[in-house]
Amino acid sequence: MCGIIAYLGQKNGVPIVLKGLKRLEYRGYDSAGIALKQENNLKTIKAKGKIEQLKALINGENSNIVIGHTRWATHGEPNHINAHPHTSEGIAIVHNGIIENHASLRKELEHKYNYKFQSQTDSEVIAHLIDFFYDGDFEDAFRKMLTKIDGAFGIVALHKNHNQMICARKGSPLVLGIGENETFVASDPSPFLDHTKNVVYLDEKQMVIINPDSYQIKDFNGYNLEKEVEKISYGIESIQKQGYKHFMLKEINEQNETIKNCFRGKIKDIEMVSIKKENFQRIVLVACGTSYYAALVGKYIIEKTTHLPVLVEHASEFRYRQPMLYPTDLVVAISQSGETADTLEAIRLAKKIGCSTAGMVNVTGSSIAKECGQGIYLHAGPEIGVASTKAFTSQIIALNMLNLYINKDPYYKMKVIEEIKKLPDQIKSLLENQNIKPIAEKYRNAKYFLFMARDINYPVAMEGALKLKEISYIPAEGYPAGEMKHGPIALIDSEVPSVFIVTKDSIFPKVISNMEEVKSRKGKIICICDEINEEIQRLADDIIVVPQVKWEFTPIVNVIPMQLIAYHIADMNGKNVDQPKNLAKSCTVE
Ligand code: AGP
Ligand code: GLU
Repeated sequence: MCGIIAYLGQKNGVPIVLKGLKRLEYRGYDSAGIALKQENNLKTIKAKGKIEQLKALINGENSNIVIGHTRWATHGEPNHINAHPHTSEGIAIVHNGIIENHASLRKELEHKYNYKFQSQTDSEVIAHLIDFFYDGDFEDAFRKMLTKIDGAFGIVALHKNHNQMICARKGSPLVLGIGENETFVASDPSPFLDHTKNVVYLDEKQMVIINPDSYQIKDFNGYNLEKEVEKISYGIESIQKQGYKHFMLKEINEQNETIKNCFRGKIKDIEMVSIKKENFQRIVLVACGTSYYAALVGKYIIEKTTHLPVLVEHASEFRYRQPMLYPTDLVVAISQSGETADTLEAIRLAKKIGCSTAGMVNVTGSSIAKECGQGIYLHAGPEIGVASTKAFTSQIIALNMLNLYINKDPYYKMKVIEEIKKLPDQIKSLLENQNIKPIAEKYRNAKYFLFMARDINYPVAMEGALKLKEISYIPAEGYPAGEMKHGPIALIDSEVPSVFIVTKDSIFPKVISNMEEVKSRKGKIICICDEINEEIQRLADDIIVVPQVKWEFTPIVNVIPMQLIAYHIADMNGKNVDQPKNLAKSCTVE
């Protein structure tokens, strides 16, 4: 959940690491800190809050070995003391993840060996354990430490007596950046992208000893490993705001391009979707949050058009409830980050049972992509805003690609491909001609919102509510419109706005009836529709018109106004749109 960036080279690593931390701030922003090596001393500088607060404490420090961390607290409140790096005698570490046996290790170190702990974090045991095992050999002490800790971790450590950096991963991502006479370690490549595009993604249970002129990857037993250096395909511009006020707004506005990138190269020859066409009899989609709502959309598409049963599961529930799985199931993990701990574990569980697995992942080389071994990359480019937007619409494209891949009807495939090609232009015109800002202005002080839709757009209503909650902190619920009378109708009064998706399809009259029910109780109605008729005009207080697209793609055009409603309300209300409170971009802990 946190961001790690570390530098070992010939330049002053302090500004490099600080700039890198700024880029990683979307991963965690409770507090931040750095440790640097000067001669045979380590210096640690930490601050609660944002990177700016940390920067204010920097006073010309200079070092070519520096580690940095931006935290998303799991153990211990976000304050100065709990901020990383954590230290023990001449050792500094940064950690991402959770050390599950930290309490017993801490007890032992405190009571048996008299170690004094400064923080409430689970991470501090790592520094003391390295010290405990240290007898002049840093690598050996680090490896012994690894044998003691359970849980998930990405760790980078420094020792005052060694011109080295040692890092290890198990369950939390780490990537090496290989520059000219300089090496970076980070949670993702964004913090070092302006220095090098050459990367090595570490796999599970790998560690690296980084020296000034070389690096050596090893397994946890100390055996040397050779790993290929890969090249990052995107440039620095994809992780910059490029004139937009927020990353979220930029990412919303990119969606005409990002969905094209998702289907480009796949529609010519659907068989190229890299999933082995075994005779699976069921598809199980596992995901969390926004990706879970995309999965629900996938269920509507695949079951209706391909008639294959599809189960959709919250990954966090799935992994603990002993699900009924069969080796004939295809289990697909959907994840923007590719690092969500619950989704990753769900895939591991499915593999144990012998199911085929596949990933629909945005971040290439991520843990879920690797674990699945096959699947569809979203190619949406880095998503920096914590609230997911472009990944969701690309996931819907990817689910359509999967559907085309398994569907046997050539006419259906042809039709979908014909329509998918029109989508980027339709989305472009929607983005250019939308009128959301005045609507957001009108409802920005509402205390509660309802989002309602039916059929394939019901998950979109839930996604709309999630977006609003996440960034504006206004309570909101997404509901199947037909369920309203079974409870939420009690909440409707003249102060409550209801956002309805009304697509011109077979259930159109049913949604209109639900709008009537809201109107009769004096509720306000914001209607997202693809055609205005008299009834809509009579019932709706505000109308947003989206392009008419094939049923399978209606979630894409309908979610965009919802993303924009959430964005503008949050922005107008002065909220931190890209870094909403308590959230982090990738949940690498349970
Ligand atoms: C989206 O706006 C959320 N911040 C969150 O629900 C997210 O979708 C969820 O954590 C899953 O992440 P993933 O797609 O990276 O696995
Ligand atoms: N568990 C550690 C802590 O609470 C690391 C959190 C993180 O990954 O940012 O400090």
